Amino acid sequence: MNDVFDFSTVVTTRRGAISSTTSIESNELIPIIEKDSRTIEILSSAVKNNILFSHLDDIERKQIFDVMFPGFYSSDEVIIRQNERGEHFYIIEEGEVDVYINDELMTSFGECSCFGELALIQSTPRTVTIKAKTNVKLWSLFGETYRKILMDITIKKRNSYGEFLNNVPILQTLDEFERLVVADSLESVQYEDGDIIVRQGDPGDDFFIIVEGTCTVHQKPSESSESIEIDTLSAGDYFGEIALLCNRARVATIIAKGSLKCVKMNRKRFERILGPIRDILQRNIPQYNSIIPLDQLQTMIISSDPKNKEEY
Ligand code: CMP
Repeated sequence: MNDVFDFSTVVTTRRGAISSTTSIESNELIPIIEKDSRTIEILSSAVKNNILFSHLDDIERKQIFDVMFPGFYSSDEVIIRQNERGEHFYIIEEGEVDVYINDELMTSFGECSCFGELALIQSTPRTVTIKAKTNVKLWSLFGETYRKILMDITIKKRNSYGEFLNNVPILQTLDEFERLVVADSLESVQYEDGDIIVRQGDPGDDFFIIVEGTCTVHQKPSESSESIEIDTLSAGDYFGEIALLCNRARVATIIAKGSLKCVKMNRKRFERILGPIRDILQRNIPQYNSIIPLDQLQTMIISSDPKNKEEY
């Protein structure tokens, strides 16, 4: 099979059902190739620790999986060749491959392994040759498609969150560019009435901003006491910063009141992106109408064991 891929031929010549197309900003249509649940599992597990996918949320990951197309290689066939220009990223679904540098066998790998991402990141020549050791079925992604989809995701996020973020009070001191970077890092999440979004006593890794709807804040002053509703939050409000800023357990439980739309960012992004407003967030903490004194907040236990979870 040839490493260079032409989309105009995939629709008619590649195996794998094509259900529809996805459109990117340039109005180019990219075929979506349906995958069964086993394949999705393999793809998900393969990219779990892969740098190309580390900054994508579930929806974005799915968009990339959708356009990956299948390839079949017979034993001994070369998949990528050292020093040649690389265009594709690959995930092996079945079979094994051998990795050579200057014709010397370095290693082998099999199902759920990925390779070829350097070409997508740096456009550098291939540093190894990879040859099918057995018959191999893999899934490929064209680097250009990956870049276009990511660009499209970024543009869409900036369009849909840009206006909203301009009106979020806590982000007012950020400049336009900093707000766009916040938009890029957000993942949207939807909750139904009664959903518990964060629970007092749990460890926390996400920071939330409410886009639409309301939620209530509940606290209990001690393990044995009843939980008390202490506040209501609505669009433009934020929550979840205390666990991240102070590296401690959640100090309150947040429950959706009716349907609730939020955007969230994880700890890594929060630390990288919200640096400029860290001081403001920190200064605001004592202003909460908290029934737990601040000094006690420090001593709350972070528990990841569900058995130790407090009732709210
Ligand atoms: P965190 O402890 O990470 O998770 C629960 C969140 O509830 C907390 O951060 C605050 O963002 C938010 N919160 C809202 N109102 C209060 C309040 N009165 N006291 C404490 N936390 C509150």
